[in-house]
Amino acid sequence: MRLFVAFPIPREVAEACAALGARLPDSAMKRVRPELMHLTLAFIGEVPDGTAEAAARAIAEAATRITVFGARLGRAGAFPSERAPRVVWVGLAEGEPQVRQAALVVRAELTKRSVPYDDAPPVGHVTVARLRERVTPQERAALRDAFAAHGGDIPPLDFAVVEAHLVRSVLARSGPTYTTIARAVLSSAGQ
Ligand code: 2AM
Repeated sequence: MRLFVAFPIPREVAEACAALGARLPDSAMKRVRPELMHLTLAFIGEVPDGTAEAAARAIAEAATRITVFGARLGRAGAFPSERAPRVVWVGLAEGEPQVRQAALVVRAELTKRSVPYDDAPPVGHVTVARLRERVTPQERAALRDAFAAHGGDIPPLDFAVVEAHLVRSVLARSGPTYTTIARAVLSSAGQ
């Protein structure tokens, strides 16, 4: 099965991120539906079914060493660059260092249990849209313009990050389906 580890985000926060996606040209980007949005901590990818148990144990252990924290939506960004966006996301004005640190803690626990993951450096972000496969230079230019015009329009919503999820992803032509198969509550502040 295909797995990843993420912090869920509240629905209203996802809706605010989706509003940015709605302002990007449809012809260039595939938007992420708000119910699928999250903050990725580790992308495990395709593993044997039995690996899910080890991954769930890793998250449970990591959660005892990650304290609940407050986050705030920041401005938009893009991978690999804002000049040539392939993935458009919303960043965090607060809580980004905590997401990065949490990702390192989760990944260390996965490593201890020999669970593989993509080791691209963690960046706290909520993906809102991905570039379509075939895009004309005009569509690309329209995307760049829309990004420049609206990338700063994100409301500075505050939210609490209180649990981590192990998510199963099933890919289909119509888009992925995500199912949370294990969850772990983070350590309480002051403990
Ligand atoms: P993203 O966080 O940049 O959107 C499920 O696919 C989630 O895992 C997505 O949120 C996705 O990217 C993230 N992810 C990280 N590395 C990935 C990879 N190598 N392949 C697919 N998804 C990956």
